[in-house]
Amino acid sequence: MTVDRPRAMPYGGYYRTKLPAEDAELTHVGPGTPCGEYLRRFWQPVALAAEIKDLPLAVRILGEDLVLFRDGDGRVGLLHRHCSHRGTSLEYGIVSGRGIRCCYHGWLYDVDGTILETPGEPPESRIRYNLVHGAYPARDYKGLVFAYMGPPAEQPEFPVYDVMAQPDNEMVAYSIAIPCNWLQVHENSMDPIHTVFLHTRVSGTQLADAWGAMPALEFTQTPIGMIYTTSRRWGDKVWVRSNDVIFPNIAQAAALFEDGKHEKHFNRVSLTRWIVPIDDTHAMTIGWRHFNDRVDPGLGDRSRVGKEMVDFIGQSEDRPIEERQRVPGDYDAEVSQRPIAIHGCENLGWSDRGVAMLRRLLRRSIRAVASGERVPPPRAAGGTIPTYAHDTVLSLPGEEDLAALAVIGRQVTDTVLAAGIDAGGQREAVVAAKLQDLARSFTPQTKVAS
Ligand code: FES
Ligand SMILES: [Fe+2]
Repeated sequence: MTVDRPRAMPYGGYYRTKLPAEDAELTHVGPGTPCGEYLRRFWQPVALAAEIKDLPLAVRILGEDLVLFRDGDGRVGLLHRHCSHRGTSLEYGIVSGRGIRCCYHGWLYDVDGTILETPGEPPESRIRYNLVHGAYPARDYKGLVFAYMGPPAEQPEFPVYDVMAQPDNEMVAYSIAIPCNWLQVHENSMDPIHTVFLHTRVSGTQLADAWGAMPALEFTQTPIGMIYTTSRRWGDKVWVRSNDVIFPNIAQAAALFEDGKHEKHFNRVSLTRWIVPIDDTHAMTIGWRHFNDRVDPGLGDRSRVGKEMVDFIGQSEDRPIEERQRVPGDYDAEVSQRPIAIHGCENLGWSDRGVAMLRRLLRRSIRAVASGERVPPPRAAGGTIPTYAHDTVLSLPGEEDLAALAVIGRQVTDTVLAAGIDAGGQREAVVAAKLQDLARSFTPQTKVAS
């Protein structure tokens, strides 16, 4: 018997066992790989500042084994892990007043890789002047340690996004290791339909009931990346939400526990996080949980935010496997896509077009860098770079179909993208006012007619 369409054949598992290769261009991150080179053009968080204590910290970032420390002068060093002399790990080094000293023969390295001493060599030895140990610029910022691992001539300014300079906002640093490729973790941020199923209808309400309402979906490029826009009918409200992807590997989520019940305009973010590859099959979500009285007031828990933890369900391996099977979360969905998700095995649908768009835009940027282009710096206003994630809840009684909801979402997104771009610290107020104007312009008739 010949089989014409084995992929569509019942009981056809026999025909589905050959796996295509992973999409190396987007998933491999080691030195010299196209994606690895692209990611190295940006400052990346590599650890929590609180993790650097008196001993050196072994870290693995972008497939490189490194050691992180803070010397007696308070300077942060990020060095190649293996000593330039004979390869002993500097994880066993002695953090010094200036730099770090290898335990084996005492070579002393400054934070920039300069070899300060080679005490086992004769005084006339020139060896330390003839080489410099591998090192990367590193700095502290609000509880995280960032590093730049790209070509020195292309080091960008450290980017400060608007959400990092909000008044009356506490930023609590956290990081969680995830045993799978970075991209499938990152793609979750442009896959809003999973919130209907994974976070509500399948696992029970993990965030708020409104997440289970089927939204209209749109995906839009922004000056710094892309956003999704979900628009949902919830009672007499229409809840419009956008999350940011900031290229290449930052994601921002609006309020974690938004319930869509109360009118608001351009309410900002609960999470700013990077998905930093550890290597091809491991990643780390690392960033900040924002606490203020505007986003999820009273619903967050600072005491559950830090190393390997964040205060909402399903983000790590912290629960027994049986519980994770009964009530799976993001971590379980992402990690179980295989160590590196194989795009050639997927069957993407209409609701996956955000994922497809993210891959397309990343691939374009990866190829641009591979062809020698420099990454353009983001546009700042008033000292910070505008971002776009928000919740907006409009009082808009009525009912409509998804197409009409999409029109409302489209107008909200257009307003958010256009308003207050040069307003600096006043932007939130400007955008909120524009959204209030927009809300007043809607009537049940305009909604249905759209
Ligand atoms: S191996 Fe480090 S000083 Fe010899
Ligand atoms: Fe999720």
